[in-house]
Amino acid sequence: MTDPHGRSGLFITFEGGDGAGKTTQAALLEQWLTEAGRSVVRTREPGGTEVGALIRDIVLHHRGEVAARAEALLYAADRAQHIETVVRPALARGDVVIQDRYLDSSVAYQGAGRVLGTDEVRELSLWATGRLLPDVTVLLDLDPSVARGRLDADAKPFDRLEAERESFHVRVREQFLALAAAEPERFLVLDATLPADDLAEAVRARVEPLARAGGRGGVGGRG
Ligand code: TYD
Repeated sequence: MTDPHGRSGLFITFEGGDGAGKTTQAALLEQWLTEAGRSVVRTREPGGTEVGALIRDIVLHHRGEVAARAEALLYAADRAQHIETVVRPALARGDVVIQDRYLDSSVAYQGAGRVLGTDEVRELSLWATGRLLPDVTVLLDLDPSVARGRLDADAKPFDRLEAERESFHVRVREQFLALAAAEPERFLVLDATLPADDLAEAVRARVEPLARAGGRGGVGGRG
């Protein structure tokens, strides 16, 4: 079965502030689905393509000023390339795409964090992607002050976004929660301070019925 976008796979995104544990949860879900026999593509934004890797370098590591609108367009350009060349082909094959960050990150970081306006930024991403929305979005919710402690413990240098003030990250968090409240059927909101195993179980419980459903290709087979 395909939808109007020609999709037949399952599109799952992980969202949340920096340090919330998205990568760990994406890896655990990939492992579980792969063991269940599904073909999985795990990817991320920014940087899921060759073009995207160049854009990622600019948005995260450019030392001079990047204007807020330029930053929003760079993330949207990365997304356009990624969705057209990686994600849509995978969904058309019936694969499960597990993606670290998608358009909700732009709405939260550029729309609310940079105060560019959430509706405009969302519309920009929808234009960039031909209006592709995930089947499930897992929001790992974390207080920015807790997140900052985790990032400090990591001892990696902060990128341009991570280096923003706490008030920026508070706006980002509040916007993610507002997005989840507006689309409860798409979002699963989890408390990122819970143990990783508990989070993984909650994610599996949400994904299992969709992965099993025939329409988008069941666990163990292709729909
Ligand atoms: P991410 O790859 O999650 O960072 P890392 O793996 O290095 O922790 O994301 C990089 C940063 O980009 C993160 O701070 C959030 C930001 N970002 C946006 O501001 N807008 C976007 O649309 C996306 C996808 C990410």
